[in-house]
Amino acid sequence: MSDVPSASNGDREPVQDAHARVRDVFDDWADRGRAEGMESGHGFAARQGFDRLELTTGAHYLDVGCGNGYTVRWASDVVGAEGRAVGIDLSPNMIERARELSAGLPNVQFHEAAFPEHPLPRGAFAGIFSMEVLYYLPDTAGALHEIARLLQPGGRFACVVDYYRENEESHTWPDDLGVAMNLLSMAAWRGAFEEAGLTVIEQTCLQYPLEEGKEPGWKQTQGSLLTVGEKRA
Ligand SMILES: C[S@@+](CC[C@H](N)C(=O)[O-])C[C@H]1O[C@@H](n2cnc3c(N)ncnc32)[C@H](O)[C@@H]1O
Repeated sequence: MSDVPSASNGDREPVQDAHARVRDVFDDWADRGRAEGMESGHGFAARQGFDRLELTTGAHYLDVGCGNGYTVRWASDVVGAEGRAVGIDLSPNMIERARELSAGLPNVQFHEAAFPEHPLPRGAFAGIFSMEVLYYLPDTAGALHEIARLLQPGGRFACVVDYYRENEESHTWPDDLGVAMNLLSMAAWRGAFEEAGLTVIEQTCLQYPLEEGKEPGWKQTQGSLLTVGEKRA
């Protein structure tokens, strides 16, 4: 698994520094209303990934890197009073926004934490989702192992990324944002899922419909990469 970054990868900056850079970027985005921009910009692909989890009433759900918490509110609706919908994000401003927008929902919880650190019980979740997050984590392989540990046997993880090797237009993003990102191919994502104990049940590029009056871009030609894994018993 040489192209999947792991804890032993020495090429990147120390983990705490990497988290601090990412935190600064997304605290600023939250302040400038870009969390809601992501909610609408990611919504098409996020909804498809979320639906692949096939959550039912009473299930426990987790969003890793939840931003303003929009999928946690979707899950809150689906899992009902017996279930639980949880979001983790390392940006305090994103978590503050998520809590404001979710006020009054009794089955919702948000944690400010830098995944894979978290206060959550292992084996508790029927569905875990993550949209546009995992490539920021310095140790991709370790994060996937932790996600597998958090899932119940048969539970699903739906992961959507726009920064991946086959999406050439995304390759400038680390320089554009000034943060390190791990560039994985579709095959490397599949391999990393399998290595973590998640059987890949689907991998697809989700191409967005063209909005009226707009020119097609990478969202229409290449699309967001969705990988869905199921925890082996
Ligand atoms: C591009 S945004 C996507 C937010 C949300 N998933 C969405 O679709 O709008 C990436 C999010 O991941 C969070 N993030 C990055 N690294 C993280 C980590 N190690 N643990 C938890 N959250 C992280 C950021 O703070 C940010 O809110």
